[in-house]
Amino acid sequence: MSCFMCPVCKGDLHSDGKAYTCENNHSFDISKDGYVNLLMSQQSSFKRHGDDKLMVRSRRDFLNKGYYKALCDALCDCVKANVKSNSVVIDVGCGEGYYTNAVRNSFEGQLFGIDISKDALRFASKAIKNAGFSVASAFSLPFKNESADCIINIFAPSAYEDFYRVLKSDGFLIKAVPLENHLWDLKCALYDEPYKNKPEKRNDELFELVSFNELEYKINVADKDDILNLFRMTPYYYKTGKAEAERLLKLDSLETTVHFGLEIYKKRSLL
Ligand SMILES: C[S@@+](CC[C@H](N)C(=O)[O-])C[C@H]1O[C@@H](n2cnc3c(N)ncnc32)[C@H](O)[C@@H]1O
Ligand SMILES: [Zn+2]
Repeated sequence: MSCFMCPVCKGDLHSDGKAYTCENNHSFDISKDGYVNLLMSQQSSFKRHGDDKLMVRSRRDFLNKGYYKALCDALCDCVKANVKSNSVVIDVGCGEGYYTNAVRNSFEGQLFGIDISKDALRFASKAIKNAGFSVASAFSLPFKNESADCIINIFAPSAYEDFYRVLKSDGFLIKAVPLENHLWDLKCALYDEPYKNKPEKRNDELFELVSFNELEYKINVADKDDILNLFRMTPYYYKTGKAEAERLLKLDSLETTVHFGLEIYKKRSLL
């Protein structure tokens, strides 16, 4: 059994290597790169389907230089310490799989990556062969109720209700979020009046925060291409005027603070 759930009838999906099919004969082809598209057409009526090719490529190139390795190592330590063997782990909003790939080597069991962007999954499924990848929405995960031990959610939308549905009763959620000072110096280079990030509101009804680790350090982005890639992988790229962007792109190097929160939540039992 694959763990994937048919998005039409909610039955189990089985793979023959070419397609996933349920017992009602709903069938979903596996792409040549290895992912399956389980996004229903009514879920894809948004204008943009997650991150586009440029964002995905920029993020891949930037992350592969190791600037966020400390966060990736902390995530892997957290997985090693908390995920038992034979677990089912889902990386929701996995992007092109920088963290998914590292997590793959941190536990024994089944690993899945979900993202709404086909462009991101093309990269992820090409690079990581021992995980299952599906185009899907975080808000309608193609997994059965109580089928996962752990959900990983790194800088990606959090669909708490669906996370709650899919996690087993002793399941938990590992989240990484940007904190107040994240990319502060990049914002100072772009804007006359930069603002600090507002911390994301926690969902206290469904999940209990059991651990919180803060990671704050400086990175020296000493290459014009890396600065451009960093800019392109942020939401500022689409929000910033040309003149402001040019200020940043004139720089030969940029030293900036990065500031992450790594959180572990336990699923609450609702009476
Ligand atoms: C900032 S990126 C983070 C990617 C990856 N976790 C990382 O940190 O490298 C956010 C990701 O969430 C995806 N995304 C956005 N909306 C989504 C949704 N509704 N369901 C699933 N993924 C979504 C985007 O396509 C993108 O790949
Ligand atoms: Zn079906």
